[in-house]
Amino acid sequence: MAAGRYMGRGDKVAADRAAVEAMRLVLSTVQIDGVVVIGEGEKDGAPMLFNGERVGTGDLPEVDVAVDPIDGTRPLATGNLNAISTVAIAPRGTMFDPGPFVYMDKLAVGGAAKGKVDIAAPVAHNLAQIAKAKGDRIDDLTIVILDRPRHAELIAEVRRCRARIRLISDGDVAGALMSAWPESGIDALLGIGGTPEGVLAACALRSMGGEIQGRLFARNDEERDQGRSLGYRFDRTLTMDDLVASDDVCFAATGITDGELLQGVKYFGGGARTDSLVVRSFTGTVRQVRARHSLAKLNEISQITY
Ligand code: FBP
Repeated sequence: MAAGRYMGRGDKVAADRAAVEAMRLVLSTVQIDGVVVIGEGEKDGAPMLFNGERVGTGDLPEVDVAVDPIDGTRPLATGNLNAISTVAIAPRGTMFDPGPFVYMDKLAVGGAAKGKVDIAAPVAHNLAQIAKAKGDRIDDLTIVILDRPRHAELIAEVRRCRARIRLISDGDVAGALMSAWPESGIDALLGIGGTPEGVLAACALRSMGGEIQGRLFARNDEERDQGRSLGYRFDRTLTMDDLVASDDVCFAATGITDGELLQGVKYFGGGARTDSLVVRSFTGTVRQVRARHSLAKLNEISQITY
């Protein structure tokens, strides 16, 4: 909600600051002894919710925390689709720490194709597997891909296979979630996006019954060498268990701008409406929470400007 006010205002920095401050304040009230493993770290050089920061009241349980206060800062600032705010917790020591490596190649699918795909295999093989698992033809499938020049070959390959493509400008956490959300009409997410977003998507897909596989992606030789010296491997498939090694994960996402999965924050006289997804892998429960908020009341009791 704090970020919702920045839709279309053209100020990514202010939007991010509002979202980070609000999320940090709210996390400080939650009864957890949390360590931020996936934070506003390397890519943005952020001062808050950085990797290693302690969050929560300090009471048990001890947990790892993953945050992305805005996934889709650019679409939020430009008033476009699919910006969400997202957070996950899992028992301490279970989340993948990507170190300084910001990019990951990803393959995310819903429950039907879980266990039937392999990120190391050719795209054509995976599309055939997804189609078979769902009882579809390949040309029935819709694949989400981030619209980036680095995906030119991937896009050409998916086109050669005759699957449909939904290019997104940003927001591949939402893209991964869509692949496990039947009503979205999306069958898979493919391509290279942020590593933090990969871990967050793994936290969500654990409960939603889907699967994500990843491979760290080195942008240049320097990163490859750095990876070697730090013990990271770029040719290794990161499974769901590598990305989050627990079946006791909680994940939440709230729409900031409208998207296929979640509606954005809507304002009306004195109030706001939000649309969230809250999932818990221990029970496999997926909750959709539509909330009406009284801004007058919140502004009286909260330090956050809504
Ligand atoms: P932010 O909003 O946190 O900047 O991330 C947006 C995003 O599109 C992610 O969803 C995606 O994983 C990543 O950026 C892709 O990075 P890049 O824009 O550098 O290709």
